[in-house]
Amino acid sequence: MNNTDNRAIGIFDSGFGGLTVLKEIEKKLSNENIIYFGDTARLPYGSKSRETIIKYSKEIYNFLKKKNVKLIVIACNTASSFALEALQEISDIPVIGVIKAGSRCASRESQGNILVIGTKGTIKSEVYKKEIHNINNNLNVYQQACPLFVPLVEEGMLNDEITTLSIKKYLDNYINNIDSILLGCTHYPLLKESIKNTYNKNINIINPAEEVAEEVFNTLQKYNQLSNNKNRKIEFYVSDDKEKFIEYGSLFLGYNITNVEEIDIEEYKKA
Ligand code: DGL
Repeated sequence: MNNTDNRAIGIFDSGFGGLTVLKEIEKKLSNENIIYFGDTARLPYGSKSRETIIKYSKEIYNFLKKKNVKLIVIACNTASSFALEALQEISDIPVIGVIKAGSRCASRESQGNILVIGTKGTIKSEVYKKEIHNINNNLNVYQQACPLFVPLVEEGMLNDEITTLSIKKYLDNYINNIDSILLGCTHYPLLKESIKNTYNKNINIINPAEEVAEEVFNTLQKYNQLSNNKNRKIEFYVSDDKEKFIEYGSLFLGYNITNVEEIDIEEYKKA
């Protein structure tokens, strides 16, 4: 029996934020080829409706399937909240979102009081709250949408005065009542230090990405689908402004991204 599968893992996000998830998968699964798609023409996803996000996610699914991936990771929290089930229904390969992994992490690590922060879409869907309560109904889950965080990260203003003010605006009301903050948005891991520095309090800040990488590893192992590639390849695709993606992505990942291709994602409306 063949115990390896050298097809790539597909990862998608609304833009470059999903690289926080790619970074962990890249580290944990060093033999795996990866195909990353960032929907830079249509971001942000966080303020769009469920129907729109499902439509976009299905197009991206069709694109990744045409690339013959063996598993798909929805790195975007908003798309995981709205479109995971819709994709799992049509898919013949595993599709993994970030919500279950983040919720597992939060319920394992929290002392009892968790604040989930995310986009308006993710928070309104209440998926994190439901999932955490499925695991442990005794945990207190507070929720707060932080719509200013994504543009601040996109502008690279990680340590700016405005960023500190925004952190205070969103988190001040909760900070004395919580022990953990779950970063329910791809961009927020970049604000981890700023959040820590804003408060003189020992607070556990949870990034679901590591747990997502673990889930990907376990799923591939279960199906005997881990790769044995010696020189793995990572390819990037975006729907707009490849130059900006190269600049931000390279800064973020700490190495130069060169192989980025711009595609018209609307061509993938049909499977
Ligand atoms: N990727 C989105 C998320 O994790 C954040 C950016 C956006 O709104 O598109 O929810």
